[in-house]
Amino acid sequence: MAEQLPEQMAQLRDKINYHLYRYHVLDAPVISDAEYDALYQALLQLEEIYPDLVTPDSPTQRAGAAPLDAFEKVSHPAPILSLANAFTVEDLFAWHSRISRHLPDPDMALDYVAEPKLDGLTVILTYHNGRFTQGATRGNGEIGEDVTQNLRTLKAVPPKIPVALDSNLPTPPSLVIRGEVFFPLDKFEAFNAARLEAGLPLYMNPRNAASGSLRQLDPKITAARPLTLYCYDLVAWEGIDVPAQQWDRLDYLRQLGFPVSTDSRYCPDLTAVAAAYQEWIVKRNQINYEVDGIVVKINNRPLADSLGFVGKDPRGAIAMKFPAQEKTTKLLDIQVNVGRTGMLAPNAVLAPVEISGVIVRNATLHNYDEIARKDIRIGDTVLVKRAGDVIPYIIGPITDVRDGSEQIIAPPTLCPFCSQPVKRIEGEVAIYCDNPACPEQLVRRVEYFVSRGAMDIGSFGSKTGALLVEQGMVHDIADIYYLDRNALLALEGFQEKKVDNLFSGIETSKNQPTERFLTALGIRFVGAVVARLLLDTFGHIDNLALATQEQLESIEGVGPQIALSVVDWFKDGRNQQLLDKFRQAGLPFAVEQTAVAGATQSLAGLTFVITGTLPTFSRDEAKVFIESYGGKVTGSVSKNTDYLLAGENAGSKLSKAEALGVPILSETALREMVGE
Ligand code: IVH
Repeated sequence: MAEQLPEQMAQLRDKINYHLYRYHVLDAPVISDAEYDALYQALLQLEEIYPDLVTPDSPTQRAGAAPLDAFEKVSHPAPILSLANAFTVEDLFAWHSRISRHLPDPDMALDYVAEPKLDGLTVILTYHNGRFTQGATRGNGEIGEDVTQNLRTLKAVPPKIPVALDSNLPTPPSLVIRGEVFFPLDKFEAFNAARLEAGLPLYMNPRNAASGSLRQLDPKITAARPLTLYCYDLVAWEGIDVPAQQWDRLDYLRQLGFPVSTDSRYCPDLTAVAAAYQEWIVKRNQINYEVDGIVVKINNRPLADSLGFVGKDPRGAIAMKFPAQEKTTKLLDIQVNVGRTGMLAPNAVLAPVEISGVIVRNATLHNYDEIARKDIRIGDTVLVKRAGDVIPYIIGPITDVRDGSEQIIAPPTLCPFCSQPVKRIEGEVAIYCDNPACPEQLVRRVEYFVSRGAMDIGSFGSKTGALLVEQGMVHDIADIYYLDRNALLALEGFQEKKVDNLFSGIETSKNQPTERFLTALGIRFVGAVVARLLLDTFGHIDNLALATQEQLESIEGVGPQIALSVVDWFKDGRNQQLLDKFRQAGLPFAVEQTAVAGATQSLAGLTFVITGTLPTFSRDEAKVFIESYGGKVTGSVSKNTDYLLAGENAGSKLSKAEALGVPILSETALREMVGE
């Protein structure tokens, strides 16, 4: 048994890495999350018992190694070239005529590959005997920085190739490839929004966020960022036959298990390239990563490479850049918006300007610190960027063209809607209106309460909230459930039918799952995901209301900031009154019980770790059992563990629990605890 262990662990590692690849690269998992977790836990447990058998390619190592003092320098095996730019289809044809002279026959027909030009940062990945051994940034093209530990934390970087378990591709003895690391756009918006809430400086764009996240001395920071990559080139190799055509090289990379964009196109001639370019001008705004052009490559790579280069630009490929998504315009004024948390957000009013096909009149400015930091003034000529669905934003002022008439923007001291003094929360850059009765805030809270992601009351129109608050019919969000039919009918535009619809929508919303109701309450940092976590643990909003900061923090995925916000919210007497009002109205407070009929939540807030062989339960059964009583099961013992459920042959977890003073339970004791 013992001598088979290394082999057994290697198989587990390969299997887990394969499933990570199915999930993160192919977006086509073949096992459930629970099955994946079981494999992962199995490996984790073995590694805990046999720490000497942990290898760098183990999926457990993705959490990030120890921080570095500085990055080492790395020499690339071949120069990492750049690309010449073209901006129009004419430029594209001009490129072709320029290179024709260098072709064996100037009239020879060429085919091409058109790839998205990802706006991220180049990385060079080295594999020896199939193992990922080194990852580097481009640097100056000859020498880059060693970011191996950071790249290991990316789920899309295979630690071992080929990834597929049944691959018949030979393992390359040596392979160096090139790719682009990037920050997916949807994640970027959420990421910056969270930084804003936390009072941290914002990243200007996804590219900077990718670069800032990869070039961290502490790999754990990189691990916590949703970076991913696409690979597109082979830089160097030994001991393998590499396909001659770029199109086939992309496929070869894909077959080894590297992430390769599926948005690349084979183009039989330049007309097809020009068509692909036109398509991309629209498509660029519909995909989840930022592209600033397409890269056109001569498909025949040996031929392309034989053309040599001009400076740092190879002749055999060219970047066709997209029209600018940045323009300059005048900043006319600053308007202030108040959010549902009371946050006052400055909004720029711009002289209308066309940016890649759309007239832009407004732009976000995030917060007043941002305005001060960038020294943006009213009357300034500012550089505005618009990309896809992202709200246009101001990159910065063009200070050279100032004439002295520009006005410095002072943060408001009074809320522009209720005239009450504003406050700042320590450690945050945002300014808040601290008046819970601020009508504008209430409008935002009502809008949020009825919105799609919360109670989803479709019949509650977008202007209804503002109107009802203005008419004095809604003083808090619970008033939505106490509206007076006659008063509504007296409002302009509210006929019978509309009022009936509104009421039926409001009534139906009482059947929404409790987690939606909890989300709709608008507690800071408690969105749908956190609401789910909280209810999974506590099962009932009343239990949650009693939770301590410590109990909350012991939930995986709930940090101190969230915990504090939840505790503060429930502590506030006004919110308790609000909850009572909701309760009277019949809103759902308890989670429907599905796992074990009639089970109480007697283990709510408690975290368990399971180890060893239990007398009657399998480990999975024990997990389901604990969870059905509201408890939580995690993989490793820490100071946050409340109990270790231990059976026979318990190993390192038992000693760790003993060392930390974590109480040890038998299966019988667990059953007694819940009254079975
Ligand atoms: S090929 C000699 N392909 O764009 C090969 N580059 O402006 C040159 N880039 O430095 C690179 N996507 O960082 C290539 N599909 C792609 C690319 C790509 C993004 C970046 C790369 C390069 C820059 C050139």
